[in-house]
Parts: sequence; C-alpha cells; structure tokens
Amino acid sequence: MLKFQEITKVFKTDLIAQPFTALNDVSFEIPHGSMVGFLGANGAGKTTSLKIIMDFIRADKGRVEFDSSMGKNKIEVFKKIGFLPERPYFYPNLTGTEFLMFMGRLSELPREQIKKQVAVWAPRFKIEHALERPLKTYSKGMLQRVGFLATIIHEPELIILDEPLSGLDPIGRKELKDVIVEVHRAGKTVFFSSHIVSDIEEICDRVIFLKEGKLVYDGAVDSLMNSGKQNDYLIKFRSVGNISLSAPHHNWQHFPGNLNVITVNEAAKSAALQELVGGGVEITGVELIKPSLEEIFYKIRTQ
Ligand SMILES: Nc1ncnc2c1ncn2[C@@H]1O[C@H](COP(=O)(O)OP(=O)(O)OP(=O)(O)O)[C@@H](O)[C@H]1O
Ligand SMILES: [Mg+2]
Repeated sequence: MLKFQEITKVFKTDLIAQPFTALNDVSFEIPHGSMVGFLGANGAGKTTSLKIIMDFIRADKGRVEFDSSMGKNKIEVFKKIGFLPERPYFYPNLTGTEFLMFMGRLSELPREQIKKQVAVWAPRFKIEHALERPLKTYSKGMLQRVGFLATIIHEPELIILDEPLSGLDPIGRKELKDVIVEVHRAGKTVFFSSHIVSDIEEICDRVIFLKEGKLVYDGAVDSLMNSGKQNDYLIKFRSVGNISLSAPHHNWQHFPGNLNVITVNEAAKSAALQELVGGGVEITGVELIKPSLEEIFYKIRTQ
C-alpha cells in the first residue's frame, strides 16, 4: 500500500544553528489491510515521517511510493487517505455538523452521503447530542472524536493518525480504539503513531519503532515486548503473621491490611506460589509486569 524508502530529512533552522537530522535513512512498508503502530519518544521523528507521507514537507533523500491500486497520481492517491494531524485546527464557530459537512465537501462527497456517514458514526462516538453546538464548546475528547469522524468520513483506504489517543480518558481511549479496530476489520489499512506501548500492543500486530530519527525495530509487537527477556510477575497476598519465602524473589513490599507484594521471575513463579499457599496465605493477585517504553528503549539500545 505504501513504501517509505530510504528517507532522510534535515531541518536547517537558520544560518548559525547546526542542521538537524530528524530522519536518517528510514525505510519501512505499510502493507494493504494491516494495522501498524508507529512508536517513538518525543522528538523521534514520527510526525515528520507522517508529514512526508502526506507531502506536507519534502524529504532531502529517498521517496514515498504508493501502490498503483491507490491511484495514478497524487490527487487520486490523497483522496484515498484519511489523515488526522497531531494538532488539528477546528474552526471554533462552526457547529459539529457544519464542520463535518465542510470536511466531507472538501473530499467532494455529496451532502446526502455525508449525512449518512454522520448518522452512522456520530452515535458510535457519542457526539450526536453536541452536533448542533459550536466546536468551541466541545471538550478535548469530543474534538478528538469529531476529528476522527472527519478523517474517515470519505471512507478512505489508508487511515493515518498522529497520536489519535492523546488526551483521552481511559473510556474515551477504549471507545476510540474499538472504532479503529472496527474500521480496520472492514478492510482499511491503519497506521498510527503513539508513544504509549500498551495502546499499540492491544490493537496492532506490527510496530515500527523510531529512535532519534533512526529505525530501530520493525516487526511483530509480541517479539518486541518479549524478546530475550524473562518475564517478571507481581504476586500479591495477605498474611497475618510473619512469613518467610525460600523461592527466589525480590522487592518485598508491605502495605496496610496485611497486604504484601513481591516480585518473582517466571522460573520461580510456581515454586513461590506453592510455598505461599502451603504457608496458609491468601493470594489476592498474580500479574505479569509489562515492560515499559523505557525498558524497551534500554533493551533495544543495548542490543
Ligand atoms: N520545522 C522544523 N524545524 C526544525 N526542527 C524540526 C521541525 N520539525 C520537527 N523538527 C525536529 O525534528 C525532530 C522530530 O520531530 P517530530 O515532530 O517528528 O517528533 P515526534 O516523534 O512526532 O515527537 P512527539 O512524540 O513529541 O510528537 C524534533 O527534534 C523536532 O524538534
Ligand atoms: Mg509528533
């Protein structure tokens, strides 16, 4: 669907400052029908890459290629893309309906089709009650939803989202993720950036990881999260008296209400649980400790 080929982007801010290489020979592919996450810390080069795909800025080296199925020229190709920028601008005095009508008309959709799309999606985004209000009265989460609706209103084949989940509360994130999954299941290709590993882990099968303008990982999400490292688990339990544990463990924490939390590695998990149960304690939870973005960074850096 899309090939990002050997792209280098250098920003020259002024005559005195050193030129800054935001992207350094980055290549990846987004296959048709895939859902790919674009991961990286602040300043890694995600937005710059997406702007180059959208032709808002030009690369110094390399090129972006689209499948012939996307169209013969840029005008045809960009009609099949839905893009949600990192910081979309919303005309404050337009109502939700007027904004969606405006965005739909920009994509040359007939009015009837725009209305149909809004009728389908507005209830899913829980914004139908606000559609006749000006956008300046919307909360951040509501703007994010109306922005996403505008992104998919023309039923694009390729949906590119720059931090679509930022600023949403947990319920809002879940709802938006559900819609992204639904759109993807309907056959659309989705490429979205985030610096939150769990969002990508939950809904993507592949992840592209940028670090300081370089591609450091492109592959399955599972292998990124699990490669080479033994998993650690938290065991939570209640015990009235003092209890000792011979199975290997570390980081024993005590909390009010006789609550204890210990960390064990995968190999020691069963032995520790058996010993604790044998000692008569009440196990209240066993939890896999997921690596954080920092840990993955560290792991990738030291590989
Ligand atoms: N127009 C510009 N002029 C100069 N430097 C720029 C420009 N645009 C981006 N940069 C620099 O390029 C680097 C990459 O920026 P980019 O916005 O692509 O990062 P990002 O991965 O999207 O980060 P975030 O997670 O914070 O959105 C940053 O160091 C940024 O300062
Ligand atoms: Mg960005």
